[in-house]
Amino acid sequence: MKHNRKNLVRIGAAVAAGLGAAALALSTTGANAEEAAADGDFDAQIIGGRPAADGQFPWTVALADAADPSFNYCGGQLIEEDVVLTAAHCTEGSAAADVVIRHGDTDIAQTDVYEVAEIVVADGFDGATMVNDWSLIKLAEPITGAETLPLADADTGDWGTLTVAGWGTTESGSMSPDLLYTDVPYVSADDCAGAYGAEFDAATMICAGDLANGGVDSCQGDSGGPLVSADGVLVGIVSWGYGCAEAGNPGVYANVGLLHGDITAALATL
Ligand code: ARG
Repeated sequence: MKHNRKNLVRIGAAVAAGLGAAALALSTTGANAEEAAADGDFDAQIIGGRPAADGQFPWTVALADAADPSFNYCGGQLIEEDVVLTAAHCTEGSAAADVVIRHGDTDIAQTDVYEVAEIVVADGFDGATMVNDWSLIKLAEPITGAETLPLADADTGDWGTLTVAGWGTTESGSMSPDLLYTDVPYVSADDCAGAYGAEFDAATMICAGDLANGGVDSCQGDSGGPLVSADGVLVGIVSWGYGCAEAGNPGVYANVGLLHGDITAALATL
């Protein structure tokens, strides 16, 4: 059962690699709705979220299909005016010409479309285990004047209340046209290992969610998007989880504080 649910994450990754809108619709409405019905505790958008205000997440972007820019399938964040940091499982197998970046509005339909020059997937990324789930996208042209998001440069332990945002799957099982966000409590590495056993890799991952009650989480389509601290640094990148917003199964994120050295080294080569 749990393995089936982790397989849903793989469906998300396959979609990101270009299977198309129909596949995403199937994976979200079909699979998630069934899981929801089976579990009885599947709840709400970005799961437990509310619409973002203009300017609240100014560095947020979506990854979309260059052949159909209305099909956005992952999130990301500008860390330079011409560099997006996202999840490796969102870009693996995609050429620069396959992907466009959407930015500039909370309403996805109002965002501008930007071309991609280069994609760099983390060297140590493993799509089976999701270790090192980060990747860099260099834009063809900078988005001049755009705000950028600073990266956590260490894992300081208890981050307190974190915030996650995205256009991903909502309670209705489809993507959200409006950028949604929710607060998610930090979950310690010990507690996350308790939830996921060896599938949680403390060297590259960090967890967040309401472990006891569920109800708040990222979900399919939010991958690559931001987990930010109260003081405004990028702590995590949406990566995977069993189901969405289930009690006992927190969201798992690439641990930016621990991966900071690798990310900045790759950034220097762009
Ligand atoms: N892998 C998913 C994606 O491609 C994100 C899943 C996040 N799941 C969670 N329970 N937080 O969009």
